Amino acid sequence: MSVLRITEYPERVLLEPSKPVEHFDAELEKLSVDMFDTMYKAEGVGLAAPQVGLALRLFVMDCEGIKLVAANPEIIGEEGEQTGDEGCLSIGKVYAPVTRAARVKLRAQGVHGEWFEREATALAARCFLHETDHLNGTLFIDHLTPLKRDMVKKRFVKIKKFR
Ligand code: NI
Repeated sequence: MSVLRITEYPERVLLEPSKPVEHFDAELEKLSVDMFDTMYKAEGVGLAAPQVGLALRLFVMDCEGIKLVAANPEIIGEEGEQTGDEGCLSIGKVYAPVTRAARVKLRAQGVHGEWFEREATALAARCFLHETDHLNGTLFIDHLTPLKRDMVKKRFVKIKKFR
């Protein structure tokens, strides 16, 4: 078991699109295990590879009974709307309300390369969208108005100072 360092805003790897996963090997399996360990230690419900410094299209999540590894994920369906508080382990868990789809369908590859589809609602749907966003260099603060985005950034800078 290894707990990896979590990258923090505005580290560059968080702001750029990631590259597809091509090798479904033992190394990817180990990385996935390490990402779960890192996520659980930080008490998160999802973690994307850029958050451990790797520009790879990969995330792990364990949220509302949905536990999975998603490589090369795509959002293939979105329905409805929900607004709820959202945070990110890379932004010091400063929360702000974000409006997202209420029901989301994900298509992705598992750790051995097998394609699967999964549907989710509520927080798990939010998690699919939030983690897939990470792989495109998009953070939840990018969904906020400029004013709210500045507030989150300022609060995060304050938290960093007192750590
Ligand atoms: Ni995040």
